[in-house]
Amino acid sequence: MKVLLLGSGGREHALAWKLSQSPRLTKLLCAPGNPGTAQWGTNVPVNAESPEAVVALARAEKVDLVVVGPEAPLVAGVADALGAAGIPCFGPVAAAARIEGSKAFAKEIMAEAGVPTAAFRVFTDVAEAEAYAVAQGRIVVKADGLAAGKGVIVAPDVATAREGVRAVGAMGSAGQRMVLEELLEGEEVSLMALCDGERYVLLPLSQDHKRVGDGDAGPNTGGMGAYCPVPFLTGDALIEAGERVIAPTLAALKARGTPLRGVLYAGLMLTKSGPKVLEFNARFGDPETQVLMLQLGEDLLPLLDACARGTLVSRPLVQRPGVSVGVVMAAEGYPEAPRKGQRIDGLDAVPADGRVFLAGVAQKEGDLVTAGGRVLTVCARGDDLVQARERAYAAVSAVRFEGMHFRSDIGARGLRASP
Ligand code: AMP
Ligand code: GLY
Repeated sequence: MKVLLLGSGGREHALAWKLSQSPRLTKLLCAPGNPGTAQWGTNVPVNAESPEAVVALARAEKVDLVVVGPEAPLVAGVADALGAAGIPCFGPVAAAARIEGSKAFAKEIMAEAGVPTAAFRVFTDVAEAEAYAVAQGRIVVKADGLAAGKGVIVAPDVATAREGVRAVGAMGSAGQRMVLEELLEGEEVSLMALCDGERYVLLPLSQDHKRVGDGDAGPNTGGMGAYCPVPFLTGDALIEAGERVIAPTLAALKARGTPLRGVLYAGLMLTKSGPKVLEFNARFGDPETQVLMLQLGEDLLPLLDACARGTLVSRPLVQRPGVSVGVVMAAEGYPEAPRKGQRIDGLDAVPADGRVFLAGVAQKEGDLVTAGGRVLTVCARGDDLVQARERAYAAVSAVRFEGMHFRSDIGARGLRASP
């Protein structure tokens, strides 16, 4: 099979690595890709967010399957255009991807489908929102539209709640509609399923680390590290979470005539009264995918292909034993203003049990240099979380670039919960 992978992050490097192990793969193209995906496929300088350009490339190369990594191509309608051209696509049509792009839409689907989530109200008037927030005291304020991770304010007291509503209200188009919701407490985990519009298979449960600093300090980021599987929700309880969250959401999207073929990613809070959905994404998480690919014990390509064609068989996936940990190494200034162009050294000194997935990295005159906020994810697998962390951090210590920073506590929450 000829596969075209869209995107250019660490997630895509990990997907390219995993797909390239498939005996069914004949050729892998990546658009636009990065120096990491180039190790496993051919990078093509095509704009992944242009439906016309993607369809033209897929046609010219007689691609059998397109796999969409990031969200932007989905929102731009790449899957719709591929569908119209009769080219199988792993990644949902724009109307289904709205479950990620619009928090109000996600809430509407959850209400319709009976999916457990925080109680909420939608406001279009800032003064009304403020009055409600002040009355509630503890609240979470969310801009309705995509706000590059800056649209969510967790407000544990009245003063922060008031400030939060005003800040989101002043955000322009993303802040015109806002969702105010109940502040939930518990472990936050990432539940991802590969879906064919109707049926799904669950990927191992993972945990991201969203704040920039150790101990969850500092601003939110795209994710500073992940590990999987996590010990908080296992066995029958995990299967039940799939039945209560993934299954009804897929059914609701299908009933609207826009089935989700791709990843349904539920950000869950494991509260005292059970798992509740914080948000949905319509794509693989990053950096979660990097560790998921290390843990997946079977061929990824037939699974993605079956999702794209609507022929998935529901069953438990084969997982490799042990635990995988991934630590994101970020550029100086990330997440506010990452500095670019620093030479990256030491990748060839990474021990054999470590694996590095490149993200914001560019090739410059024979060197690899930083080219984005999250530069790379350094991963390792171990027999248990302790060993996986030791190996991952040993690999981290081999890599150097000026101004680099990373969290030193990836997996620490899991460690506390493990027997
Ligand atoms: P979201 O973009 O909706 O996932 O929100 C970003 C982050 O804000 C989440 O990863 C949580 O850490 C936090 N958050 C969102 N909603 C809630 C909530 N209802 N209660 C507590 N924390 C939340
Ligand atoms: N790591 C969180 C996300 O991909 O949205």
